[in-house]
Amino acid sequence: MDFFEVIRTRQSIRAFQDRPVEPEKLQQILEAINRAPSAGNLQGYEVYLVTNRACLQALTKAAVGQDFIEQAPLALVFCAHPARSARRYGQRGTTLYCVQDATIGGAYAQLAVTALGLATAWVGAFNDDGVRAALGVGHDLRPVAILPIGYAAETPEHRSRRALVELVQRIE
Ligand SMILES: Cc1cc2nc3c(=O)[nH]c(=O)nc-3n(C[C@H](O)[C@H](O)[C@H](O)COP(=O)(O)O)c2cc1C
Repeated sequence: MDFFEVIRTRQSIRAFQDRPVEPEKLQQILEAINRAPSAGNLQGYEVYLVTNRACLQALTKAAVGQDFIEQAPLALVFCAHPARSARRYGQRGTTLYCVQDATIGGAYAQLAVTALGLATAWVGAFNDDGVRAALGVGHDLRPVAILPIGYAAETPEHRSRRALVELVQRIE
């Protein structure tokens, strides 16, 4: 799929088929994430690949019951790792760069998912400690996004956007 077609096609999908994701496609998604830029190339985040059903259920619970998470065959959870970024960037690394790194990784994942004919939705509404408990990680990591991934079982309308003239403030 052409890059701009990927951009046009991507939309949040919140219902998944009972169909596994092929390992080769998953590998391509993970490699796309690993190519994402990051502050100082430190990659100040961790990616958790979750296929364990109990863990997916715990993630659903942590994400205020958004049950399409546990419906998906797998989820990627992006967690900022402040200490990795702090090594070079101090407080700016801790408060900003590691979250940006994790977010860019998640955005790359979303686009790779779409390009491969798969679907996802960005889940940001969750209890941080609930996600940590589901993953078995501590407060050294800050959960940023959960991306349940699978084959779409719905075809919603594309959601509208602000007009470009409203979004883009030109300084000429
Ligand atoms: C930071 C962030 C947090 C979001 N959190 C959730 C969420 O918790 N649950 C959900 O269903 N969608 C969530 N979304 C998806 C948005 O609702 C969705 O991207 C937006 O409505 C535009 O729709 P589209 O992705 O289909 O273009 C989130 C998106 C972002 C970027």
